[in-house]
Amino acid sequence: MLLKSPPSLAKIVMANLIGVLLIIEVIVSGFPFGADGLSMGYYIMNCPLAEPIVRHTVTRALDADPTLAAALVRMHFHDCFIEGCDGSVLLDSTNDNTAEKDSPANLSLRGYEVIDDAKEELENQCPGVVSCADIVAMAARDAVFWAGGPVYDIPNGRKDGRRSKIEDTINLPSPSFNTSQLIKMFGQHGFSVKDMVALSGAHTLGVARCSSFKNRLNNVDPTLGSEFAKTLSKTCSGGDNAEQPFDATRNTFDNFYFNALQRKSGVLFSDQTLYTDARTRGIVNDYARNQAMFFFNFQQAMGKMSLLDVKGGAQGEIRSNCRKIN
Ligand code: HEM
Repeated sequence: MLLKSPPSLAKIVMANLIGVLLIIEVIVSGFPFGADGLSMGYYIMNCPLAEPIVRHTVTRALDADPTLAAALVRMHFHDCFIEGCDGSVLLDSTNDNTAEKDSPANLSLRGYEVIDDAKEELENQCPGVVSCADIVAMAARDAVFWAGGPVYDIPNGRKDGRRSKIEDTINLPSPSFNTSQLIKMFGQHGFSVKDMVALSGAHTLGVARCSSFKNRLNNVDPTLGSEFAKTLSKTCSGGDNAEQPFDATRNTFDNFYFNALQRKSGVLFSDQTLYTDARTRGIVNDYARNQAMFFFNFQQAMGKMSLLDVKGGAQGEIRSNCRKIN
């Protein structure tokens, strides 16, 4: 009979060490560790199905209406840029307050019902645990992945804010911004020029309405290609709300948006300026040539955006209905 030789001491130590390290990682990631109280795996102990529930709700909604991927990504951006990522964009106006969502800049936001559906399911599973701000952040992440974009992980534990004022939306970038204005506004939130260009690449998804770009046609914008000007004019013949896709694949997350900028076929002035301006043209060319580089920088920048001015502890609450403060 062949006797198996006993494992060496080194092997026993290694096997146990890996196990112990894994347990430590799970324990550490299950508890808040950032100064803001956010952590990876935040819901692992008190609502372990939180992430799967959001992913399932988003997938179901996007399978039925693929255009909602763009809507959810944009919602997260508009949430984070105003008052931080605190779900303030979800609050409805009341008799004595006009909320962010009723600002002209937000009137074409969509997808609120996807967040409501996820919230309802989460309240059934683990009442009062998962914030609306986290749902928006997770939904945007899952929408990017659903559309073929990069996978990225985000920490959770954001609290919901209690302030949502129409006047705050002045701090959203305008489609008529030039590169200097974009660099300045994104810089105020801690983003580099490269982050800003990568984030603008979210316009690989979705559409703009004629009202967002028609001034380029009236005042003949020289940065707009003459053939593409005809396309935009044709779209606008359908009225202010007529939709123009940002690129040829409006529901797919790819780098076609950057190729369009190279052809002077950016839809918004704020898109095309990224190619016109020498400070950002090289980055546009890099992303147009190398989709993997765009994906990598986009996921980094989105991770950063999802942490903007997050509220921890008593600064916020966990709303039971995402449209109302408790
Ligand atoms: C760089 C400055 C930006 C400006 C000036 C800008 C402006 C706009 C405008 C005007 C629209 C069209 C709205 C309409 O006509 O209804 C739009 C759509 C969109 N924006 Fe931006 N945006 C910017 C950055 C971003 C960022 C950083 C993201 C996300 C990370 C984003 C995601 C989107 C998406 C996905 C849509 C399409 C929405 C849909 O089809 O429902 N945008 N943006």
